[in-house]
Amino acid sequence: MSRLLVTGGAGFIGSNFVHHVIEHTDHQVTVLDKLTYAGNLASLEGLPDDRFRFVRGDIGDAALVDELFAQADAVVHYAAESHNDNSLDEPRPFLDTNIVGTYTLLEAARRHGTRLHHISTDEVYGDLELDDPARFTEHTPYNPSSPYSSTKAGSDLLVRAWVRSFGVRATISNCSNNYGPYQHVEKFIPRQITNVIRGIRPKLYGAGLNVRDWIHAEDHSSAVLTILEKGRIGQTYLIGADGEKDNKTVIELILRLMGEDPAAYDHVADRAGHDLRYAIDSTKLRDELGWQPRYRDFEAGLAATIDWYRAHEEWWAPAKDATEAFYASKGQ
Ligand code: NAD
Ligand code: TYD
Repeated sequence: MSRLLVTGGAGFIGSNFVHHVIEHTDHQVTVLDKLTYAGNLASLEGLPDDRFRFVRGDIGDAALVDELFAQADAVVHYAAESHNDNSLDEPRPFLDTNIVGTYTLLEAARRHGTRLHHISTDEVYGDLELDDPARFTEHTPYNPSSPYSSTKAGSDLLVRAWVRSFGVRATISNCSNNYGPYQHVEKFIPRQITNVIRGIRPKLYGAGLNVRDWIHAEDHSSAVLTILEKGRIGQTYLIGADGEKDNKTVIELILRLMGEDPAAYDHVADRAGHDLRYAIDSTKLRDELGWQPRYRDFEAGLAATIDWYRAHEEWWAPAKDATEAFYASKGQ
């Protein structure tokens, strides 16, 4: 049994990870989360008091971070500003949290000798052409496009530098697009599902030919736990589940699964600098550490996610109106 500190554990992927750890291990978990607009304590309801505690705070607060690192055997770092559209609107919080926040954790890891796993995204690699058979590997050069992905790339490079310069015991994972329960309604899949529930037409950016490589959040969690337990210090592992789909296909599938006309959506203004295609080759993780995804049927996973949003309107409704007002102000 060990004591895990999970930053950003009240967010989408962090909360899925906390539930996964409580269910599949005997670790103790402390969540450090600022509860920004994206954090939601309701995502952590029902966890056992004797194995879980929540601390509200900023990963940039060095004194608090130091205190929590002194009580942890390992840290899994999810906290971030995570939405590309917000980063185009107001980049500053992305620099503060993703770069300075990660730096603050690295300094604490250096002082305390704590094992750290840094969560990142495949978006650090930029994008691929739609007709390019290539996929991202651990050797693909960094080439981020947006304020979000460039600050995540910056945070990855800080982790690598702290490993090499100061001997920090860290690993990094870069994962593709996640879906599943507890995802904020600003993101593509939950936005469309909750639009249909509300009687609003789904919104597709541009022609919708952009490709994302979808993975269920539960598979991301099992991969992170595998890297934490068996990953080699200083290494990067790409996480993906061979789930490439273009946005048009996904929006039409959501409509069909929800019993609506698959053509009943709007084309809206495209995202500035919109990355064309992401695709992950996760051979290293599978061959070296023996990890495999369990959610291989995207349509079944999507149907279960639709059911979750239908059954948990009280979880997402408080954020829906403000999210749609933000998009409407941008013609999206
Ligand atoms: P999210 O926006 O749903 O959650 C982020 C969480 O971090 C929230 O609970 C928020 O309150 C917290 N937070 C933000 N700033 C903080 C700060 N300064 N101090 C403490 N807590 C703070 O994000 P997510 O989609 O769950 O993403 C989690 C991580 O996974 C991020 O690092 C992201 O880059 C990475 N990632 C996401 C995806 C995806 O598809 N969503 C894919 C690959 C990697
Ligand atoms: P998003 O969930 O924001 O993830 P990311 O930008 O990290 O890939 O968007 C996924 C894809 O869906 C992306 O190509 C943008 C597109 N998109 C839409 O077409 N409509 C929408 O309403 C949103 C939010 C995104």
